[in-house]
Amino acid sequence: MKHVPLGASGIESPNVVLGLMRIPEMTDDAIRDLVRTARDSGIDFFDHADVYGNAVHHCEERFAEAMQLTPSQRDEIVLQTKCGIVGDGPYFDFSYEHIVESVEGSLKALRTDRIDVLLLHRPDALVEPDEVARAFDELHAAGKVHHFGVSNHTPGQVELLKKSVQQPLAFNQVQLSITHANVITQGLVANMGGLDQAIDRDNDILNYSRLNDVTLQAWSPFQKGFFDGVFLGDREQYAELNDVLEELAAAHGVTPTGIAVAWITRHPAHFQVVLGTTNPQRVRDSAAGSDVELSREEWYRVLTAAGHTVP
Ligand SMILES: NC(=O)c1ccc[n+]([C@@H]2O[C@H](COP(=O)([O-])OP(=O)(O)OC[C@H]3O[C@@H](n4cnc5c(N)ncnc54)[C@H](OP(=O)(O)O)[C@@H]3O)[C@@H](O)[C@H]2O)c1
Repeated sequence: MKHVPLGASGIESPNVVLGLMRIPEMTDDAIRDLVRTARDSGIDFFDHADVYGNAVHHCEERFAEAMQLTPSQRDEIVLQTKCGIVGDGPYFDFSYEHIVESVEGSLKALRTDRIDVLLLHRPDALVEPDEVARAFDELHAAGKVHHFGVSNHTPGQVELLKKSVQQPLAFNQVQLSITHANVITQGLVANMGGLDQAIDRDNDILNYSRLNDVTLQAWSPFQKGFFDGVFLGDREQYAELNDVLEELAAAHGVTPTGIAVAWITRHPAHFQVVLGTTNPQRVRDSAAGSDVELSREEWYRVLTAAGHTVP
């Protein structure tokens, strides 16, 4: 398992981590099996959010109930969670009250005394950076949150927060898979007319993050688009891509899932891939991809097989 630097924090973590958004219906045994498989594969970083599950803090609670972590087991892992989406919204809330209340709820649900990483989940159009800063200062000073970041934010939105927030915003979790790859592919065709790929949908978050020591985390790494199924094995829509993934998988001694991970981790921005599978074998297959270093030629082959333009 390869590790990547987390922002400028000096801390390193695996470049493949496990998201727990899809665990609410799983039994305690199945959750333990999933998490144990992740740990055995070298994954010690787990991604939550207050809104995951059938009620607020539900997935966090299911994780803690199933795992019953001892203090030393808790020390061995990194727990990341998110706040800012109002579960029965639909709206976003980055107010001081909401952030603090959400973190207190996450601490209780996760049965822990600190959140290692807290992300602001989706941008709140009504954000007041001073309020976010007040919440972060208080939570940080109390030792309740150690590191901070954002998710689905543009560079301008990060800069606005930085005007008031003192702590480094070391993470930005964004949607990225081989087939939903505008974060990476837009820059290949910048300024080309008539191409959807040329549309800059995130104000160049990729280069902003590399320049500012922000670790990018890739959510939905196997989804075709926005929660509409995986491209792996989808021969109707992605026959050529699956052919190339299978060929490279055989060449590198891993599965196509491993190559799909390796395509993301090959990028020098040092992405962390946030897995969403609830299947232990897929966790193993994904973790195996962490150690595969695709050549430049292989990386571009995957890109073009997915239908992206390389002019
Ligand atoms: N920041 C954000 O806004 C945001 C948004 C969404 C998600 N997230 C985070 O990102 C994590 C991953 O998101 P995701 O679950 O959408 O990502 P994903 O890993 O791309 O998708 C996993 C889903 O695809 C299914 N699947 C079917 N065939 C598969 C195959 N061959 N390989 C892998 N998966 C297959 C899985 O089913 P099985 O369980 O049966 O394998 C599971 O339901 C979440 O857990 C959450 O922590 C963040």
